[in-house]
Amino acid sequence: MDFLWGASTSAYQIEGAVAEDGRGPSVWDTFCREKGRVDNGDSGDVACDHYHRMEDDVGLMRELGLAAYRFSVSWPRVLPRGAGRVNPAGLDSYDRLIDRLLEAGIEPWLCLYHWDLPQALDDLGGWANRDAAGWFADYATVCARRFGDRVRHWATFNEFSVFTLFGYAFGWAPPSIADQETHLKVIHTVNLAHGDAVGVIRAHVPGAKIGGVHSFQPMRPQSPSPEDREATALFDEHWNLAYPDPQILGRYPPRLARRIEPYVQAGDMARICRPLDWFGINFYAPVYGRAEPTSLWGFAFGAPPDDLPRSDVGWPIDATAFPQALMTARDRYRLPIYVTENGLGRRPGADADLNDTARLDYMQTHIAAMMEAKRQGADVRGYFAWSLLDNFEWGAGYSSRFGLVHVDYTTQARTPRASARWYAERIRAERLLTL
Ligand code: FCB
Repeated sequence: MDFLWGASTSAYQIEGAVAEDGRGPSVWDTFCREKGRVDNGDSGDVACDHYHRMEDDVGLMRELGLAAYRFSVSWPRVLPRGAGRVNPAGLDSYDRLIDRLLEAGIEPWLCLYHWDLPQALDDLGGWANRDAAGWFADYATVCARRFGDRVRHWATFNEFSVFTLFGYAFGWAPPSIADQETHLKVIHTVNLAHGDAVGVIRAHVPGAKIGGVHSFQPMRPQSPSPEDREATALFDEHWNLAYPDPQILGRYPPRLARRIEPYVQAGDMARICRPLDWFGINFYAPVYGRAEPTSLWGFAFGAPPDDLPRSDVGWPIDATAFPQALMTARDRYRLPIYVTENGLGRRPGADADLNDTARLDYMQTHIAAMMEAKRQGADVRGYFAWSLLDNFEWGAGYSSRFGLVHVDYTTQARTPRASARWYAERIRAERLLTL
């Protein structure tokens, strides 16, 4: 079977065990403890307890017939203070996961950063400190040396634009800053960190297949007014282009380039822009933008048209935007594409939770739309559902469920939903066809 079918998760969202076996705190541990940050005061303290249940969870993946699994490594589990002393128990836990995956015939896709910056590094200025690129490269070196004998597919960051916009412009994620200068510095440092990590992985892992994972959604102005259009154009540069453009094309998009120039030093672009093997797209829904003079950058999320359906957690649903995103990525970046996340969030206890017809419908229409884009020439090589399990959905805590598999947070019982059974059947049918 040459098309790769998988599922994605991330460390802080599923592992739990935040204070066990030497793990240091991350910025999300801190953020969750601050009042009013996360719905219902939820945190990732226990989450899906995956840290203790990883063997069973790999068994679940095998039952579903997944060919690949994208997970993230928790930086503070490996380096409790972000730099310096390595935590052997942290490395061991990922060894176990990788070994179980390989035994089950599932390809590990390792993502180095899914938003859980070690708190100790945030205390030193975090991503606003240019040194963070070096800290990240050192962490990447530890991982590449340890896991590079078994892991071939590497992602540097998950959704560069989302954690930086939410953390440094909108204030919805740690470190909850809204400051233009800091945000611009952060964008550039994260790009440097990506480039340096690519260099390190190439040096330590022969044959590595390296990419970045981007939230890449068509951006539409809420109205045709010139104000909404211009604000949305800047929003688009921030959301969709601020990272892949310099990383793959070697330049910032025009509106941002002017603003970021003061922070760019000689030789930076060569560090950032290095050959990559694939382009990761997380697709959920088109984003609507509007002018908002009181916001940091003059843009804000706009309202989708009234006639566009929404999920019951309020995200618009429009499968036609998916091929649009894939074609844009193909034309602009010309790399093999993997859809590294796609799925539908639902409120807990929504009618017929296990018989999740809304999610099933979303997956069927989106997979069909993706396949159509592939027929039209988008070089899409694989699809990872978000997510294998219900999990800690950042600011929404546990009040939004994205799992193919339902998690009962009281007993930690896992129950595959109708969407999981359908997905497993689809993978199986395709495998039989290609035998
Ligand atoms: C993406 C994140 C992922 C999850 C999904 C719903 O933006 O990468 O961790 O929260 O959205």
